[in-house]
Amino acid sequence: MHQTGSFMHRRGAFGAQMSRFFKAVLFPMGVDFYNPGHLFIVLSAMTDAYAVFGNPIAHSKSPLIHAAFARQTGQDLSYSALLAPLDGFAEAVAAFRARGGCGANVTVPFKEQAYALVSRHTPRALAAGAVNTLKFEADGVLGDNTDGAGLVRDLVANLGFALAGKRILLMGAGGAARGVILPLLEQNPASLFIANRTAAKAEALARHFSDPEFDLAASRPRGGGYEALAGRQFDLVVNATAASLAGDLPPLPNEVFAPDALAYDMMYGKDTPFLAFARAHGARAADGLGMLVEQAAEAFQFWRGIRPDTGPVIQMLRND
Ligand code: ATR
Repeated sequence: MHQTGSFMHRRGAFGAQMSRFFKAVLFPMGVDFYNPGHLFIVLSAMTDAYAVFGNPIAHSKSPLIHAAFARQTGQDLSYSALLAPLDGFAEAVAAFRARGGCGANVTVPFKEQAYALVSRHTPRALAAGAVNTLKFEADGVLGDNTDGAGLVRDLVANLGFALAGKRILLMGAGGAARGVILPLLEQNPASLFIANRTAAKAEALARHFSDPEFDLAASRPRGGGYEALAGRQFDLVVNATAASLAGDLPPLPNEVFAPDALAYDMMYGKDTPFLAFARAHGARAADGLGMLVEQAAEAFQFWRGIRPDTGPVIQMLRND
C-alpha cells in the first residue's frame, strides 16, 4: 500500500513537471498534441529505452521479462533484443547509447567484452570478470554482474535451499561458473569444489577466489578434475558447463548426491541429461529459469531502484 501511495505521489509531481515542460518548451516549438504523429514522437522520447545485446539473440526472453516487470511496477520503459555483430559489440552499444538508451543487458558471447568496455565496475562485476548489466551515466558506463545474485536468490528465496553450511559442487570453469562463485561463497557454505574437464582451469579459479582480498568467512574453494569427486558427496550440485547445450552429461560419479541434495542446471527451457541423472539418483532437480528471472530483477533494480515481484513472472514463463 505504502509503495503504491508513494508511486502515485511521484506520478503527481512528475505530471506537474511535464505540464510545465509542455507549456514552456514544446508548445512554443509548434508541437501539436492533437496530432498523433507529434504525440507519438514526444511520448517515445519520454520512454526510457533499455535493450539486451547478444549473438544470437532472437530466442531471448528478457524483453518479455522486463515488459512484465515494467507493467507490474508502473515504470515507463521500453526493452528490446538487439543482435550485435560478433565483431561489432562496442559499436552496437555506442549507437544505442547515442540514440538515448539508458542501460542494457549483455549476454553470450559479449560479457567479457562488456567488462572491458565499461568505465567503472561494481565489486561483484570485478570479482566475476564479466558484465551482464550496463548503466549509461553522464560521465561513463557502470558495469554490474547480476548472474550470481540471481542464482543465489533463486536457490534461497524460490527453492527454499539455504546455502550456509552446505557442501557445494560447481561444475565448469568458464564465464558462467566464474560469475557465480563469489555470491555462493558469501552465503557461507561448508565447502565449494569447482570441477572441470580441464582441471587446471578449475584449480586456477579456486586459487583466484581464495585470495584474502575477498575477505570471506567461508572456507576457501578447491578445484580439480571430475576424478577428484570419487568418494565425495555434495548437498548442492550446480551445472555451469556448456555440456547441457550439446545434450552431454559431465562425468559425475553415481554417488555424488548427498541425501536431500539439490541439482541445479543453469540452462533452462528443456530437461537436460544432468537433471535426468540427478533425479535418477534421488536428488531434487531445478532448471535455470528462476535464475534468469532473478538476474533480470537485479538488473531492473540496478536501473530503476525498484525490485519487481519475480514469482508471477516465473510462473508466466513456465506456463508459456
Ligand atoms: P561459459 O561462458 O558459458 O561458461 P565457456 O567459457 O566456453 O562458456 O565455458 C564452458 C564450460 O563448459 C567449460 O568449463 C568447459 O570445460 P573446459 O574448460 O574443459 O572446456 C565446460 N564444458 C563444455 N562442454 C562440456 C562437456 N561436454 N562436459 C563437461 N564440461 C564441458
